[in-house]
Amino acid sequence: MTAKPKVWVARPLFPDVLARLAEYFDVQAEAVEHKHTAAELREKLAHVDGALLGLSDRIDAEVLEGNHRLKVVANLGVGYNNLDLDAISKAGVLACNTPDVLTESVADYAWALMLAAARRVGAAERWLRAGHWAGSRMRFDDWLGVDVHGRTLGILGMGRIGQAIARRACGFDMRVIYHNRSRLPETVERECRATLVSKPELLRQADHLVLVLPFTAANRHAIGAEELAQMKSSAVLVNIARGGIVDDAALAVALRDGKLAAAGLDVFEGEPAVHPDLLGLDNVVLSPHIASASEDTRRSMARMAADNVIAALGYGEAAGKPLTPLNPAVMSHWATRKA
Ligand code: DGY
Repeated sequence: MTAKPKVWVARPLFPDVLARLAEYFDVQAEAVEHKHTAAELREKLAHVDGALLGLSDRIDAEVLEGNHRLKVVANLGVGYNNLDLDAISKAGVLACNTPDVLTESVADYAWALMLAAARRVGAAERWLRAGHWAGSRMRFDDWLGVDVHGRTLGILGMGRIGQAIARRACGFDMRVIYHNRSRLPETVERECRATLVSKPELLRQADHLVLVLPFTAANRHAIGAEELAQMKSSAVLVNIARGGIVDDAALAVALRDGKLAAAGLDVFEGEPAVHPDLLGLDNVVLSPHIASASEDTRRSMARMAADNVIAALGYGEAAGKPLTPLNPAVMSHWATRKA
């Protein structure tokens, strides 16, 4: 009997998904969360045929050097700035991500942060829990926030998630403007009721600005001191994209100085560390990168990553045809590259 291929699961995962993988593979699954170093990743990946990875597992040429066994890495997420696709392709490894299944949940969460930041939900809750309400003389004009309905929603990055955020704006009677590398087809613009504007116009006009662009070297600090200075002082900024797209230090200054009304942040530069100046501010809602974390969606993401590995390694109903490959061309060289 030939040995089963080996698969490493870098994060603790739903038991039913691990059981599905175990039908085909010898599975080694991490039982606790851990941010793996390059040396650890190198060692783990040297002995397996496939891996399911967390977004903090950085795979590059150094990690893959001399690895002639690994065939597939499946990211547990849609963003893949942790994967150096050029290096991965050069090493003949297939990379996959989990698009689509999380679009609607992430869009819901962008709205949750926008509403919470605009209406000061976090600060009000902290105040109440601290016991300040009873016996206080809360005034009629205390806790005033910024309206969401009827205002202008700006979206920077208008891919699938940006469009899902825009579609929800209809129920809030908002005007939607967006900035993107390329203009959306007219039918999609109509469906989203969204108008393309330049980035400076987006910054100037948005009452609520949501960032949904992928992290690339060019997008680092796409929102920094200069961009923040162009925004309305009554505006709300939401980042559900990636840490590093916003200059968190500059944002903390703008929030502290009243140059921006509020912010809702799910992602941070250097997360899980959060800029200490943000932690001290009451006009920012902070969450630990959980935009996709609904029960159904996280299960779908885990299943999709597992199905990608199963198919890539030649098993299951979709054998040889992984669902969401990022660099499918590498598969055509497998017959010659791999033993
Ligand atoms: C992703 O999958 O890239 C998102 O950041 C999840 O929240």
